[in-house]
Amino acid sequence: MKRLRTWKAHDHKTSPAYPPEVSPLPRPDGWFYMGLTGEVKPGQVATRRLGCEDVVLWRTARGVLHANRPYCPHLGAHLGVGGTVQGDTLVCPFHGFRFDGTGACVRSYDAEPVKAALRTVEVREMCGFILAWNHHAGSPPTWEIPHLDSAGWSAPVQASVEFSSHPQEVMENFVDTGHVTRLHQNTIIGCEVTGLKPDAQSWSADFALRLRLSGGRTFVHAFSSEIHGLGYLLAEIDIPYGSLRAWLMNVPSGEWRVRSTFLFSVRPTLPRPVKGVYAALASHGALWATLHTVMLPANGGDVPLWNAKRYVDPPHLASGDGPIGRYRKWCRQFYPQDAA
Ligand code: FES
Ligand SMILES: [Fe+2]
Repeated sequence: MKRLRTWKAHDHKTSPAYPPEVSPLPRPDGWFYMGLTGEVKPGQVATRRLGCEDVVLWRTARGVLHANRPYCPHLGAHLGVGGTVQGDTLVCPFHGFRFDGTGACVRSYDAEPVKAALRTVEVREMCGFILAWNHHAGSPPTWEIPHLDSAGWSAPVQASVEFSSHPQEVMENFVDTGHVTRLHQNTIIGCEVTGLKPDAQSWSADFALRLRLSGGRTFVHAFSSEIHGLGYLLAEIDIPYGSLRAWLMNVPSGEWRVRSTFLFSVRPTLPRPVKGVYAALASHGALWATLHTVMLPANGGDVPLWNAKRYVDPPHLASGDGPIGRYRKWCRQFYPQDAA
């Protein structure tokens, strides 16, 4: 599935917890999901939201991906609105000035470039998707998301949902072990988490979830998972005839606004003739099952709760809660120091 499928989070019965442009949490720094590699083919330009400003992604004819903040330093045109790629340059639609991959203007009307540059955004590509670095002061990356080998893995399938919340709130699900057998009780009746701990910009843990199956049967679903910053969660899961990678990517798309995308990729251990069909069935099946559990209130969905809840600080924690206080302290590294 190449197309981005978008689900609606609003049920029109609840109001957002904060007025527009108000957020109790700052916008986080870090690596954030910008879409699938195939959404920006050689010679193409695409616009994505990151923080409260757009990012213009463009790929040279030779396949090198670049990203910039959108406004032309000449007279302010948005490079994502009619901007084109010519060779190794991005061409502004307004007066035709050209910019190279470093953001520098390399040509104006009379071939003499003006001394001005577009602001560049660092990007990385792996496993068939694009990540971009967001920093409140425009500083370069200070950490990386571990590179994954994608040999033998299927191209990821994805679906996304945008709602009123914040990447920190969505990612708090990772350490909020107390909610699992309550909110998700229709599907999860037991939850054991081991090794839940932070390490610099990441947390990792091993999960063993006891799932309720039809006919009163149960099944233990064990997997390891990790988060890197507030935008990237990866779970690696053994499935029959192969392995599954599941990602949850959160992008701040406004004040108290977040876009979350679920991606699934499969590495089958089956012989070639059935491999592709199995990978497609398993990854789409996982996507469908995830959307129907996290999206629907009747199934114990997280998204309707995130969409309507507010941020309580300090929270009134009870014994039985996961390490939420420790998580929130760890989160402060992703915010401007004065805001933290
Ligand atoms: S505004 Fe971009 S070339 Fe004039
Ligand atoms: Fe949850």
